Amino acid sequence: MNLEEAKKLLEEKGQSHLLKYYDELSEDGKEKLLAQIEAIDFSVVNDLSEDAQGGERGIIEPLGALTISEIEKNRDEYESIGIKAVKAGEVGALLLAGGQGTRLGYDKPKGMFNIGESKELYIFECIINNLMQAVNKAGSWIPLAIMTSDINYDDTVSFLDEHKYFGYNRDYVYFFVQDMSVTTDFNGKIHLAQKGRISFSPNGNGGWYTPFVKAGIRDAFVKQGVKWINVFAVDNVLQKIADPCFVGATIKSGCVSGAKVVSKAFPEEKIGLLCTEDGRPSIVEYYEMTDDMMYKKDEDGRPLFNYGVILNYLFRIDELDRIIDNPLPVHIVEKKVPYIDENGNYVKPDKPNGCKYEKLVLDLIHLMKDCLSYEVVRNKEFAPIKNLTGVDSVESARKLLKENGIEY
Ligand code: UTP
Repeated sequence: MNLEEAKKLLEEKGQSHLLKYYDELSEDGKEKLLAQIEAIDFSVVNDLSEDAQGGERGIIEPLGALTISEIEKNRDEYESIGIKAVKAGEVGALLLAGGQGTRLGYDKPKGMFNIGESKELYIFECIINNLMQAVNKAGSWIPLAIMTSDINYDDTVSFLDEHKYFGYNRDYVYFFVQDMSVTTDFNGKIHLAQKGRISFSPNGNGGWYTPFVKAGIRDAFVKQGVKWINVFAVDNVLQKIADPCFVGATIKSGCVSGAKVVSKAFPEEKIGLLCTEDGRPSIVEYYEMTDDMMYKKDEDGRPLFNYGVILNYLFRIDELDRIIDNPLPVHIVEKKVPYIDENGNYVKPDKPNGCKYEKLVLDLIHLMKDCLSYEVVRNKEFAPIKNLTGVDSVESARKLLKENGIEY
């Protein structure tokens, strides 16, 4: 793309400010900026209509769960099905680690954060330790794919290399890089990260399947016999990964996907609720919850909409293949986005000042024909780290680690 073409395109899109500092750039810088402009997917920022963001909701109804007590009754059977599947190489794991963890305020990948006090204990280390539980139970390695972004790929790979994968077998670890999308101010004007660089940020955790396929990892997994992928977030230091009981229960249920859920702690808890929407599984985000969803009770006096997701899902690969071309809605997320202002100054905001455009893994669940809702004990499996202190924080996670006898 040459300068004239870029000018024309940006004028049409109402984004001419992106060339404001063009004349100050070196020849190389100019070329790079033009290439970035050419790569922008304007459809994401141009279509801020409700439809593009998922449109109107269908009929939302509660979805129960396979409860903790039901699971306990059948644990032996579920575990033996799950262990058999893991042993046969049918289960792969996928760590979503492309986020920027802005709330934690740590400028390295979140997995590199040391939550230890009396000794080092990194978030990545917790994840590997948790995955090792399934490996040890089954007596076989589980392929692990790690999704990073362009921004944190190098740090992630070198950190894990340096720490020798915390004892995991490197031959079973695969990395890939997710896609990016532009960031904007609240009026949809695309940010410059530098005078000659457009501000791109990771496009959410939902778009993982396409780059996973493009990187050849889907094929490598399938070649090893993988049929199920356990997708999980980097934040939760207590979660079980490739948990044989969860795998076995999902296989036994005949469902094509599964979601680990916890009972809501209190009616207004900010957690996505696993429901059905027009008969298909669907997750209602906490900010979409109606009063009924918060307060309505069933005939036994329990919350009618009771089960919140903890970002730990199982997907059958053949179902993912089936839906790979279905578009996912784009969510506009207000975040702190550093940028170059109209006077050419670099601004690092201390409160949300702009939008990122993200696809979310929870929307994949709605594309599945069914989903096993699988209840876990909150204090044993849910210790998310989003902030330094307070709710869902390093502080709260440490407390839970202690409760579970894990030294830090
Ligand atoms: P969050 O929704 O907590 O986002 O991610 P975040 O970017 O990590 O953190 P904040 O909101 O800026 O504080 C949940 C999970 O999804 C992954 C994260 O790494 C985390 O495991 N994620 C998020 C991605 O892999 N890619 C993304 O683009 C966004």
